[in-house]
Amino acid sequence: MNASTPSPAQNQASTTTLYGGVTNRRVTVRDLAAAKRRGEKWSMLTAYDALTAGVFDEAGIPVLLVGDSAGNCHLGYETTVPVTMDQMVMLSAAVVRGTKRSMIVADLPFGSYQESPAQAMHNAARLMKEAGVGAVKLEGGERSARSIELLVEAGVPVMAHIGLTPQSVHALGGYPVQGRGDEAAHQLLRDAKAVQQSGAFAVVLEAVPAELAAQVTEQLAIPTVGIGGGPDTDAQVLVWTDMAGMTAGRVPKFVKQYADLRTVLGDAARAYAQDVRTGAFPAAEHSFT
Ligand code: KIV
Repeated sequence: MNASTPSPAQNQASTTTLYGGVTNRRVTVRDLAAAKRRGEKWSMLTAYDALTAGVFDEAGIPVLLVGDSAGNCHLGYETTVPVTMDQMVMLSAAVVRGTKRSMIVADLPFGSYQESPAQAMHNAARLMKEAGVGAVKLEGGERSARSIELLVEAGVPVMAHIGLTPQSVHALGGYPVQGRGDEAAHQLLRDAKAVQQSGAFAVVLEAVPAELAAQVTEQLAIPTVGIGGGPDTDAQVLVWTDMAGMTAGRVPKFVKQYADLRTVLGDAARAYAQDVRTGAFPAAEHSFT
């Protein structure tokens, strides 16, 4: 066995649990498929930098998404639309460097794959070669099926994203719930089956009625990852800044906030500024003799 040959342990999908079962290597698509067969639910969070990604990796989050939500949650844009490939490569490389165990999935941003399957392949290869991610995500069901097929044939694991697709914000006129009504529900099911058929290893279902998400989950062999898709998807994903209370202002209905980091960080910054003003910082213990 040479250095590049995986050991039998590395080669096997975890048969215990994703949480704790896989600790000496990165989570793989086979681990996620095995989790679906076991009925084990898993979590995904976005990450945009090495430091935060390292915290989530240590916390055992099996999959981290370098989402193009970096546009509005990290880079200060209003939407995901302006995000470029160069930005995604830089952010993704940082997340890979900051982690050891999580599978890292990177978004193909708007305009980086819609032209043709060849364009999708070119940019997916950049994310894998330059940033070192383990998989890419792209938006669209039937409309993206040919690109998914080509990527998968070329050895790129693809996570699909259907329902509300934020890169289409201007065409949708905002971020409305998708899949309501018979025709829209049937289209969502067709989209889900198309991405599975094309070889996607998982599919994000964003902002769809819980009952419809449950139906899709039951009909697919690949894991569904819900965000605003109710409790019955195989996995859940949240934008980390929403989950941890860093986002300013209103968050979507589907978000649960597990911390209030915006207040914690603001309080720390105010206390520091006050200490500087009063001369309480730096004290003797922070100074060199
Ligand atoms: O970019 C992103 O963060 C996403 C999630 C909302 C799934 O696509």
